[in-house]
Amino acid sequence: MKYRKLGKSGIEASVVGFGSWAIGGWMWGGITDERQAIGAIHAAIDSGMNLIDTAPMYGFGASEKTVGKAISDRRDKVVLATKCGLIWHEERGDFHCFTDEKHPSKDGKIKISRCLAPDVIRYEVEESLKRLKTDYIDLLQTHWQDTTTPISETMETLLRLKEEGKIRAIGCCNADLNQIRHYDATGELDSDQELYSILDRGPEKEILPYTSQQNMAFLAYSSLGQGLLTGKIGPERVFNDGDQRNLKPRFSVKNRQRVQKMLESFRPVAEKHGVSLGQLAIGWTVSQKGCTHALVGARSANQVQENIGGGTITLDREDLQTMNTIINSADEDIL
Ligand SMILES: NC(=O)c1ccc[n+]([C@@H]2O[C@H](COP(=O)([O-])OP(=O)(O)OC[C@H]3O[C@@H](n4cnc5c(N)ncnc54)[C@H](OP(=O)(O)O)[C@@H]3O)[C@@H](O)[C@H]2O)c1
Repeated sequence: MKYRKLGKSGIEASVVGFGSWAIGGWMWGGITDERQAIGAIHAAIDSGMNLIDTAPMYGFGASEKTVGKAISDRRDKVVLATKCGLIWHEERGDFHCFTDEKHPSKDGKIKISRCLAPDVIRYEVEESLKRLKTDYIDLLQTHWQDTTTPISETMETLLRLKEEGKIRAIGCCNADLNQIRHYDATGELDSDQELYSILDRGPEKEILPYTSQQNMAFLAYSSLGQGLLTGKIGPERVFNDGDQRNLKPRFSVKNRQRVQKMLESFRPVAEKHGVSLGQLAIGWTVSQKGCTHALVGARSANQVQENIGGGTITLDREDLQTMNTIINSADEDIL
């Protein structure tokens, strides 16, 4: 496993991180059996995948609780990243969505807001610390941006939490370039986390050039395109009720076939390195300029053991050129 710094914090985190959204169940068709989820987290830590990303929102605390149980006897081996700013305990800030316990739905009884007000962040940090069974968070990230709280107020609170030793580094997620610059100008931003993969290349235009120039960490999320880039989601795969992939055009049978065709063209590169298509997709992600880490969700030890391989391969310039030519000439209707 390779390691890279989380911005200026000096914290060394594995280039491939364990994403723990799916194990929390919400939007992923139900919670993962706790023993299996803990087994996956232990497989990650024991193999050197020290970065673990979670959030209060992942299963309304369920993911954080499972992570807390899994790391209680190995806290010092983990770079623990969680988030704040998506709340369901009160209505404040910007509206995010209505949801039920399984999935967002306009008839859902739970209203989620985006709020990054100082007292809300403090409340959330205390709740996260309890669920995670720890007294510090390595990286606290604002989960979604709240236009009703000035970024300077949010940053001031985060800096105070750092002084108090409750957090060690500060990050944001789902932010535009202006918001990232604003965080950086009013404090010290160590990382930004955005949707980024072979299928989602939006950050290449503005965000990656900026974060790389500022020596910030950039954490790519959904680096496997929510599983599609493993090449293992065939036309026959049926997702559980409440799994977000049931509703996404990206997972239509037609699109699965388009993506699979592109992936098949990567095979010579995968074979040259002796890796799977999923490992190659992860390796491509962390080889892009400025993209320091890839967060990869997993629900079992087997998946983790495969994904770790994405953090050990080194793709040379020719491999990347071959892959980029394939990506750029892939079916233009690919989602
Ligand atoms: N900041 C944010 O707003 C935000 C948003 C999204 C994600 N994230 C973070 O980024 C992490 C990763 O993103 P993600 O979970 O959305 O998507 P992802 O990592 O692209 O895909 C994860 C899914 O792919 C499948 N998978 C993983 N490894 C596999 C393997 N080796 N073989 C076969 N299938 C495999 C699993 O689903 P199945 O087994 O069910 O197919 C798994 O749940 C999240 O867990 C979360 O920590 C953050």
